[in-house]
Amino acid sequence: MKLLKVESPEKGAEHVFRIIKEELENGRLHVLGLATGSTMIPVYKEWAASDLDFSDVTSFNLDEYVGLSASNPNSYAYFMENHLFAKKKFKETHIPNGTAPDLDKECADYEALLLKHPLDIQLLGTGENGHIAFNEPGTPFDSVTHVAQLTESTLGVNSQYFENDEKIPETAISMGITSILRAKKLILLAFGEKKRAAIEKLLEGNVSTEWTITALLEHDDVIVITDLDV
Ligand code: GLP
Repeated sequence: MKLLKVESPEKGAEHVFRIIKEELENGRLHVLGLATGSTMIPVYKEWAASDLDFSDVTSFNLDEYVGLSASNPNSYAYFMENHLFAKKKFKETHIPNGTAPDLDKECADYEALLLKHPLDIQLLGTGENGHIAFNEPGTPFDSVTHVAQLTESTLGVNSQYFENDEKIPETAISMGITSILRAKKLILLAFGEKKRAAIEKLLEGNVSTEWTITALLEHDDVIVITDLDV
């Protein structure tokens, strides 16, 4: 695992940009795993303003709230459209459908699609409790795409971003730990003191399902970009 200490989220975004540019130019980036959350905003801002060409790239997002459609401003589909997809053309973009009538089928179909398009790079943020995607504490590492029950702590943290007084959904479709670890390269971004506990757990080096971020210890190509002094 490589740890990259940066001064700010914007500097972190510059690093991600350089990696993505190099992989694109070397023809190594065909399938890109994307993440949502405030951490990713400077990353997508930089991509949107650049000449990066994603027209041959297929993207997969990590997760989506159950019950929210793409037209709902609180959905991750809306976030992606707003921050990236409206500005950059991709070959194909995939986000789990949180309004699918049969959620188990939606999860199985998403996982099957992922298996057909192996991820070259997966971008990751982390929750304050160390979750990656919506793999909350206790999620087994052999998990694939599934309906995840969000914890009280995640509901509390993430509800602050909800607009229009809408209640945050208590469940989400999320790629599993195994789905994420299949990516060839993982890039995790974590900024600010609220992420300290998660990053410290990762750096302690003990693999535990209580901190799903520690699953990254089982992968051999991980870059962690943080502004924390750890
Ligand atoms: C949600 C997402 C995660 C993301 C996390 C952090 O829980 N499911 O994928 O990493 O938010 O969000 P933020 O970047 O806003 O701190």
